[in-house]
Amino acid sequence: MRAFATDSEVMQHAISLARKGFGFVAPNPMVGAVILSHSGEWIEEGFHQEFGKAHAEINAISAAGERTHGAQLFVTLEPCSHFGKTPPCADAVIAAGFRRVVIGCQDSAPHVAGRGIQKLRDAGIEVTVGVCEAEAKRLVAPFEMLIHERRPWVHAKWAMTLDGRVATYTGHSQWISCDQSRAWVHELRGRVDAIITGAGTVRSDDCLLTARPQGPRTALRVVMDSTGESLTADCQLVKTLDQAPVLVCVSRGCSGIALQRLQQWGVQVFQTTAPDHVDVSEVLQELGRRQCTHALLEAGPRLLGAFFDAGKVDEVHVFVAPKLIGGVRALSPVGGEGLARIPDNANLTHVQTVTIGEDLLIEADVSRKPPVGDLQRESVSSTIHGS
Ligand SMILES: NC(=O)c1ccc[n+]([C@@H]2O[C@H](COP(=O)([O-])OP(=O)(O)OC[C@H]3O[C@@H](n4cnc5c(N)ncnc54)[C@H](OP(=O)(O)O)[C@@H]3O)[C@@H](O)[C@H]2O)c1
Repeated sequence: MRAFATDSEVMQHAISLARKGFGFVAPNPMVGAVILSHSGEWIEEGFHQEFGKAHAEINAISAAGERTHGAQLFVTLEPCSHFGKTPPCADAVIAAGFRRVVIGCQDSAPHVAGRGIQKLRDAGIEVTVGVCEAEAKRLVAPFEMLIHERRPWVHAKWAMTLDGRVATYTGHSQWISCDQSRAWVHELRGRVDAIITGAGTVRSDDCLLTARPQGPRTALRVVMDSTGESLTADCQLVKTLDQAPVLVCVSRGCSGIALQRLQQWGVQVFQTTAPDHVDVSEVLQELGRRQCTHALLEAGPRLLGAFFDAGKVDEVHVFVAPKLIGGVRALSPVGGEGLARIPDNANLTHVQTVTIGEDLLIEADVSRKPPVGDLQRESVSSTIHGS
């Protein structure tokens, strides 16, 4: 039987349970729950496992049965108080007869926003809010991004050599990272809602952008291409339309011929408003409209630079391979305008490093104002590999 010394330890465990839902529950948030007896012994636990199915609290309560009476419930996110795809969890928590409820963070979604907490308090339950709050808030940051900014959380991924190059001076880039690193990327691809690339990468790599093997989700493959001319009838993206959809985001100036050709192939088209370029924010708003919670940016330096300049990268996953290629004309990962000065404070937070095969994987959140949270970050790699 599990033993916990503090509320924080229990909440940390609930957070790790919640992470198992990555790739399964979006656009819902990942949530975990643990039930302890009055005296602190572990009784049951649960997490939100699938979109539209029972929430974490309900899974834990169902498993615990009668043992919830007088017990303590730890849950990473405020129990919901509204009828959505399932009835309000706050009502089920009250009906289960808990003595105490410990909550990681309040749900900032307008239809909850403290009402679940109030309902529990009104029913006479002792409620503690804010245990491991920063970690609990980081867990739901992609969900909050979709609700409040109506765009997905953007993960930027690239693989570079030890001398910081993502391609040789000829544009050759396959492969920089090792087999295990690429397998890791395929796992991530299988959990996100969209994978974004640019016309340059489509032209030079004839990329496929599917998860192999398939994961719990099939991502929409998104190409930002102002003229709509980077795809050809026999390119990998078009040839595999039966495996995953493709959306090409073009400028308003894209020719009728190019639009017609894309549509004939069965490619979806999103025409943006600028006459000569494709605006990053507009594309992200379109993905938000499609309920995409996580988008993976796998592009070359031009598009990566545009996303960084626009402040639209939330998290990075960078593979550093023990290879040297050199060359002043060889590409470095992030183009765009960049910063004029070295920032005084680190602009990446929650940095984690792990070795994968012969590569080093560095993951971090990109600082935002206001900051997403001050926490010990648990990397996507530990979620994927359960380490
Ligand atoms: N090692 C790695 O991890 C990795 C990953 C991906 C790519 N690569 C390498 O990167 C190289 C390609 O680099 P790249 O920079 O040309 O490719 P890219 O960033 O994927 O594509 C750039 C193109 O995207 C289009 N685009 C549409 N909207 C844009 C926007 N708002 N901002 C910027 N671009 C926009 C532009 O073409 P239009 O003007 O035609 O619209 C632009 O030329 C290849 O050698 C490839 O192998 C390496």
